[in-house]
Amino acid sequence: MALKATNPKHTESWSTLQQHFNTVKDKHLKDLFKNNPKRADQLTIKWEDFYVDFSKNRITKETLDLLINLANELDLKDAISKYFSGDIINETEGRAVLHTALRASKADEVYVDGVNVIPEVFEVRQKIERFTDSVVNGKHKGFTGNTITDVVNIGIGGSDLGPAMVVDSLQFYKNHLKTHFISNVDGDHYYEVVKDLNPETTLFVIVSKTFTTQETLSNANSVREWFLKSSPKEAVASHFVAVSTNIKSVKEFGIAEDNIFPMKDWVGGRFSLWSAVGLSISLAVGYENFNALLLGANTMDTHFRVTDFSKNIPVIGGLLTVWYNNFFKSESEAIIPYTQYLNQFATYLQQGIMESNGKSVDRNGNRVGYQTGTIIWGEPGTNSQHAFFQLIHQGTKLIPADFIGFVESLNGNAEHHDKLMSNYFAQTEALMNGKTEKEVLQELDSSKLSKEDIETLVPFKIFEGNKPTTSILIKKLTPESLGKLIAMYEHQIFVQGIIWNIFSYDQFGVELGKQLAKTILNELNATDAITTHDASTQNLLNFYKNQ
Ligand code: F6P
Repeated sequence: MALKATNPKHTESWSTLQQHFNTVKDKHLKDLFKNNPKRADQLTIKWEDFYVDFSKNRITKETLDLLINLANELDLKDAISKYFSGDIINETEGRAVLHTALRASKADEVYVDGVNVIPEVFEVRQKIERFTDSVVNGKHKGFTGNTITDVVNIGIGGSDLGPAMVVDSLQFYKNHLKTHFISNVDGDHYYEVVKDLNPETTLFVIVSKTFTTQETLSNANSVREWFLKSSPKEAVASHFVAVSTNIKSVKEFGIAEDNIFPMKDWVGGRFSLWSAVGLSISLAVGYENFNALLLGANTMDTHFRVTDFSKNIPVIGGLLTVWYNNFFKSESEAIIPYTQYLNQFATYLQQGIMESNGKSVDRNGNRVGYQTGTIIWGEPGTNSQHAFFQLIHQGTKLIPADFIGFVESLNGNAEHHDKLMSNYFAQTEALMNGKTEKEVLQELDSSKLSKEDIETLVPFKIFEGNKPTTSILIKKLTPESLGKLIAMYEHQIFVQGIIWNIFSYDQFGVELGKQLAKTILNELNATDAITTHDASTQNLLNFYKNQ
């Protein structure tokens, strides 16, 4: 059954929230804490190995209640049940959205077109496990009898970002295989990766849901050409495998059926790391760890599905985005992990969040009359503190930020970890409290500056504070906790899409540029002068072509 399609601005809860917003928008977080000694406890959720503190957000308990009323009025509960049970909620593409089925338990039943998909999910998982084991333990040999030392994932978008982010995040758990990623159609990207590789000991994993993506097919073809320069055609079978829904085209590319890891069209590219798209993850960290990642995501799925909204981490996280985006008119959200391991996390979420919710037409086909998808950005702390934190602290924009930290350091360097985490705690406190004029004056009092100089300097040294943050503190970075964290954001995307009344699971917005690039490529390769574009594009093309 289809999702309901209600304009959120036409609900009673939205109007109540608007009135409520006018009463809380100027309240300072410092005062909210002063006036309610229980605030931190009331607005913190402790769940499994997660400690999620929402209390440094510009909300009161009433805000939360009203946001939950909005979710109820828009039937979020019913939407969640449709999401998990395989209803065609990706209506514009006529598909279910079932990345959650990829991490379900064997005993679960999820039906698509009357067929339980779980047995097939587990068949593919077994195939991933068998193949991973044989490559990792050296049974799978290259064509000259050598074991595999390097794995190269060739894919783009969801067929690259998810695996690349997880492999990077879990490098502490990595085995001896070296993992590489080729994504950009820029020939320099593939060249820089393959130039030092030995074809005899390298395995290429071509990942493309559609197997039509220009970048991936170009890179796969160029890499195969490079490989065949030193290897016979028969060698392709032991060095190339593919992940796709398009079995016919993969076979035409020359990959044997046995070497194809299938996926289903009900898995969206940006949510596909849990499917065979995660083969490179499994190869890099072993199947057991890949399985633990899936298990973690499944635990978050259950939390999201069954927990009361007032204690539901992804529900509250998703609603807070709506609060800032639609009431405070914030345009972006920062994601700041305090671990170098999550270096690629924000980049990964940019696709997940922005490709999903960057929409301007509602589920009735009308132009929305409110803001939707937020701009996602971020970098690990403490590096980001020395780069863009100035703007978050003292700029004119309100940027809600998620601070992700871990209690334990993986390599056990307590001295470094305490320094890292003291910054994690200090930043959210500083963003909240700021520094008043009085505090600045007190500080400058002990300096050698003249009274006049102090007076001139004061306004520049004041921090208004009242900058909202959510602290997500997790016991330790493990495959399981990472699975929970990724799934948490996936469900926040869902919540936001339901409230904004948009379709989160198509991505037509990426098509126009792709189509035009095909036409332009033909024009670049033709001898005729280019005449069919606007004056600016035409000049650029002719300048490029005639150099
Ligand atoms: O360009 C957008 C997109 O369609 C993404 O949604 C997808 O993850 C990516 O391209 C790659 O697609 P494929 O896996 O089919 O090659």
